[in-house]
Amino acid sequence: VPEDEDTHKEENIRCLTMLDHFGFECLPLQLVNKSIQQGFSFNILCVGETGIGKTTLIDTLFNINFKEHKSSHFHPNVGLKIQTYELQETNIQLKLTVVKTVGYGDQINKEASYQPIVDYLDAQFEAYLQEELKIKRSYVKYHDTRIHVCLYFIAPTGHSLKSLDLLTMKKIDSKVNIVPLIAKADTISKNDLQMFKSKIMSELADNGIQIYQIPEDDEASALVSVSGHLPFAVVGSMEEVKVGKRMVRGRQYPWGVLQVENESHCDFVKLRDLLLCTNMEDLKEQTHTRHYESYRSYRLKKMGFTDVGPDNQPISFQEIYEAKRKEFSEQCQREEEQLKQRFMQRVKEKEAAFKEAEKELQEKFEHLKRIQEEETVKLEEERRQLEEEIIDFYKTKAASESLQAQSGTNIKKD
Ligand code: GTP
Repeated sequence: VPEDEDTHKEENIRCLTMLDHFGFECLPLQLVNKSIQQGFSFNILCVGETGIGKTTLIDTLFNINFKEHKSSHFHPNVGLKIQTYELQETNIQLKLTVVKTVGYGDQINKEASYQPIVDYLDAQFEAYLQEELKIKRSYVKYHDTRIHVCLYFIAPTGHSLKSLDLLTMKKIDSKVNIVPLIAKADTISKNDLQMFKSKIMSELADNGIQIYQIPEDDEASALVSVSGHLPFAVVGSMEEVKVGKRMVRGRQYPWGVLQVENESHCDFVKLRDLLLCTNMEDLKEQTHTRHYESYRSYRLKKMGFTDVGPDNQPISFQEIYEAKRKEFSEQCQREEEQLKQRFMQRVKEKEAAFKEAEKELQEKFEHLKRIQEEETVKLEEERRQLEEEIIDFYKTKAASESLQAQSGTNIKKD
């Protein structure tokens, strides 16, 4: 307990200044040490047209040449390229996952361009949910691939957002923290840029698109006050250019140099500070508490779980499980019964069909038998007539022979 200085003087007690922390004021240090030991992970999704500067910006952000191949403009569908890197700065390790769109905006029909992105975001939530529902969970080993931030690259047209931009952002704004960026901002004049920025912000508001809300009450964020600069006008470059006596990263033009890290030239530093220095933890927290939470509650509701029963009373997991099991076994019984009935019905139908066919066959047989009998009678009649004719013939023949014999005898006598 600190004592009054005067008391010290009066009692002539030597007052030592503390060299180290002790007591519970050390608690934050435990967190820091644990985090450093575990390492950090961060997942970025870059959505933007082919060649808009996604790779260059990521390289510039982390000051590493990730050596990416350029994508072609002829992909039949939008795809995603996922890459994970293990980075280290001093003793801090960062597992960085970068997901980039491939062929975005290149198809004639752009209607379903957002679908692979939505599917990917949901798939990462689903994987996390499945891990969460396991009996034996291993969060330490588990690579959490949920996307913490989506950098949405807007083409520097100076005009307005495209319908594809609005549609995609609308579809993903409840699943990820969107940070809109004006790409290749060096290609647009200062006045045009300001107007373009306000146009974009009003279009986003008019269409009810929720972008990442930078917490202004946060001391660090308030100091920088970055919200007013959204969408960030960014320029990427890994080129070192000489400015005076210094070498800076920038883009050299016949009329001058654009310095990437000069805040009066572009908002690159603001973006880098937001992502890496001030708001990475908030982005991760928002991902978990807002976006994942709404996915989780949607999925659990779909599975039949609920927090309160029909009488608005809290309902336990056990009760839901029992009710679900009962409902499931009843449904199985119902389906079994229906199946049995359908089977019996089919058997009866088949039996009736067989009987009908048998009857028809019997009738056909009777008919043929009748015809055959009639034929036999007819043949019998014909045979009888033929026999009579033969008898008549023989009789006539015998008579003519005896007549011939008689006339021969008469001639001899003469
Ligand atoms: P894909 O992955 O192939 O879709 O391309 P990408 O979006 O990753 O674009 P990339 O970073 O490969 O850049 C494409 C071209 O744009 C390269 O020639 C870059 O030098 C150039 N570029 C990148 N960023 C900027 C920028 O801020 N300003 C200007 N003027 N050019 C840029």
